[in-house]
Order: sequence, then C-alpha cells, then structure tokens
Amino acid sequence: MSEGTIKKEEHRKFQVVKGTRDLLPPETVLWNRVEQTAHEVFATFGYGEIRLPIFEPTELFARAVGGETDIVSKEMYTFSDRTEEVGSLATRHSALGTSISLRPEATASVCRAYIEHNMQQLPQPVRLYYMGPMFRRERPQKGRYRQFYQIGAEVLGGTDAPAIDAEVIDMLITFFSKLGLSGATLYINSIGCRECRLKYVELLRAELLKVKDQLGPDSQRRIDTNPLRVLDSKLESEQAIIEKLPRIADHLCEACRENYDAVKRELDLRGVKYQENWRLVRGLDYYMRTTFEITAPGLGSQNAVCGGGRYDGLIELLGGPPTKGIGFAIGEDRLILSLLESGRSPLATRHSPLLYVAWMGEKAYATAVRAAKDLRNAGFSVELPPIEQKFGKALGQADKLGAKYALILGDNEVAEGLWTLKTLADGSQGKLTESDLLEFLRKGHAATSQNGCR
Ligand code: HAM
Repeated sequence: MSEGTIKKEEHRKFQVVKGTRDLLPPETVLWNRVEQTAHEVFATFGYGEIRLPIFEPTELFARAVGGETDIVSKEMYTFSDRTEEVGSLATRHSALGTSISLRPEATASVCRAYIEHNMQQLPQPVRLYYMGPMFRRERPQKGRYRQFYQIGAEVLGGTDAPAIDAEVIDMLITFFSKLGLSGATLYINSIGCRECRLKYVELLRAELLKVKDQLGPDSQRRIDTNPLRVLDSKLESEQAIIEKLPRIADHLCEACRENYDAVKRELDLRGVKYQENWRLVRGLDYYMRTTFEITAPGLGSQNAVCGGGRYDGLIELLGGPPTKGIGFAIGEDRLILSLLESGRSPLATRHSPLLYVAWMGEKAYATAVRAAKDLRNAGFSVELPPIEQKFGKALGQADKLGAKYALILGDNEVAEGLWTLKTLADGSQGKLTESDLLEFLRKGHAATSQNGCR
C-alpha cells in the first residue's frame, strides 16, 4: 500500500451502515422512559424479563418464522460461524461452520428458551417479555430500519382460554395509554386453525387463479407460495380484486368461530376498543386463530406499531411438548416516532446540569471536587469544569449549558464555609452552608426528576 493510500484511508470518515442509526440524547431520555414504563406495566401483569442472544442458528428462524416468508428468504443477516480452533472433536464437527443469523424477531428464541430450560415444569402459563435490537435487511425508509428495536411479550403454556388473548391485548393498550400514545387503532382477526385455514387457503388459491393475470408479480408468486399474503398487498391496482375474495370469517370451523366470538366478548369486558380486519394475516407462518395489529398516527406508510397473535403448535414444531402460545412485539422506533410526532412527549432541548460548579483557586478546587461528589451522590446532576476558569467565563459556560444554578467557590467561600449559589435565570444569589445547600436543592428539586437526575 502506498503512502498516498494510507493517508486517504486515515482520513476516511466512517458512517453508520445503511438502515442503522445512532440514538442520541436527548431522544434517549424518551427511549428510557418507554422502556421503564414497559418494565413497570408488564410486571403488574405478572411478566418476567428474558434476555436472549442476538444471534441463533439460522434453522431456528427458518423453522419458526417460515422458510418462504420474506423475513427468512430475503431479509436475514446470515453468516457461517467459524469452526472452533481449539476444542473437542464434538466442536470441530462443523468444519464448514454453522449457519448463524442475527435475530429478525424474538418469538422463536423465547420458544427455544422455553424448551431448553424445561419451562413447562414451571406453573403455567409462563409470561415473559423482552426488549432489544432485531435485524431485517429491508429497504430503509421512515419507520423502517435494518436494525430496529422491539419490546415484546409472550405467554406460553397452560390454557388457550380467550381471556388470555384479551389480557395480552389489554396489557398492550394499558402500556400505550400510560405513555400517552394517542390515536392508536387496534385491528383484530382470526385466521382459524390448521384445518379450517387449510380449506380456506385452497379456496382462496382457486379464486386467485381466476384473477391471476390482473395481479402484480408478487401476488402472482404468492398464489403458489402463500396465498394468504396476497391479502396483505398494498398495491392500489389489486385492492378492488382483493375486496371481492372470499373472507376467512365466513369459513372458520365451529370451534374457531366460537373462539373468535369469545375473544371479542373478553375484549368488550375489558373495555378494549377494536376494529375487525379480515385481511390481517401477518407475515410470519406460526400464527393461528387470533391475530392483531396496532397502527399509530404520524408514521406514514410504516404505521404498524405492534403486531402479534396466537401460535399454538410452534413449541412442538421446535421439538418441545404441545404448548399454547400467544404474544406481540412493539416496534419501539415507531412508537417513539409517533410519541414525538404527536407532541405528547416533548424532548428536553438538551441534557442540562442542575448545577455548575464555578471554582477558582487550588483550595477551592479540592472543595469543588468533594462538593460535586456529595451532590451527585444525593442525586443531583452537576457539571464540574476540569480546568480553572475566571468566574465570568465560568458563569457564561453555565448559562450556555442551561444550568439552573452556579455554585461559586473561591478562596473566600472556602475560608468562610459559606458557599455562593447563583440562580442563573434572574441573577439572584445567596450564601449557604454545605448542608443548607443540600437541603435547599432537595426541597426545590425532589419532584423535577429528569432522566433519573435532578
Ligand atoms: P412483526 O409484525 O414482524 O412481528 O414485528 C412487530 C413490529 O416490529 C412491527 O409492527 C413494527 O412495529 C416493528 N418492525 C418490524 N420490522 C421493522 C423494521 N424493519 N423497522 C422498524 N420496525 C419494524 C414479530 O416480530 C412477531 N415476533 C411478533 C409476535 C410476538 N408475535 C407473537 N409474539
């Protein structure tokens, strides 16, 4: 490599990979608030947090989500894991490397963990929730990223009583209303069980074949691979055709029809408002019976802020015992976007300290360091300049940072044991002992907590 190329490389500016982004303060204050609210609300419904690996064997997602789905067939970040250099024969068997994928969703992992940790031996159902990044190689746009964040919950085992479906949805609505999300709409549907859905899918396929040449290439392909997904089409030219197709609600078996009616009654009982949407089929293969989605305003075309449904049989498909399951995942990026766009969660303009320590002189510095430590221990946010500044400059800096107070510490203050506290908004100031200062801040700022700091 020539010197010229090295220089060029050294000056290369790095940027995030397309479809990923940095989350910066002050927006991260809102992210933390959303996550904290999820911890609190989900705990009141009896859920415990599960933390899962970011990557898993590709086969887990292929089997759970479905090999023909867009998520698995087009969007996963898959790589071959290197063979262990050292280790037993057992770890060397995979000379070609194991195929690993970054998780595109977490339901498969939760089910894997349920089986792996024998959770069927715990009191049922087991209620778990998770939050963290997921990865899908989709075309990036507003509300759609290649690394995005989900907050999800799953109920595994025990009964499939409709009250379980309704309570899961009720928890979601409770969470959204605690956050002040406005204008959200809940859509529900039942896509039947294996038997009645199979019959319906055949009927749908036959009807779709009759109109095949009026459909776009994606829908034409799906007639073969997954006719239900045609119902999901957003293509303007296909809407009128889709509206005339047979509807699954008219083809549910007796048990699925009764189950769907009971889920709606249970939602009514909880005062949960919903709209039925017969075209809500979801893009993952594991669903049966209840499916649901929530849309929120301010998101453009990517307006689904949450999706979920029932997936009895998935645990069995992954090698576990027959187990009921239902859950959802919220797109946290979209939730935050919608909260911001609605203006219900205004961001602090900056992350300002409560107090700026303007110190001058060596003795004052030692006191300043100790004071900053004590104040932070008491929970107040403090900016301590690392180098000495004239008071005028320090006060200017305190103003720029948006600090509420400046604590002025010079040789006089240290000698007297009386510190000067200046309120920056009106320039008023007074002298206080150290304990008076703590008392004053405690009284005035106990309730104005922001981001855990006062
Ligand atoms: P999903 O509908 O694929 O379901 O994703 C759930 C939510 O994640 C979506 O409604 C959306 O808000 C968000 N999301 C999905 N892809 C992206 C993306 N590329 N960028 C930003 N946000 C995105 C699942 O993942 C299922 N595991 C949900 C579930 C849990 N079903 C049962 N249990």
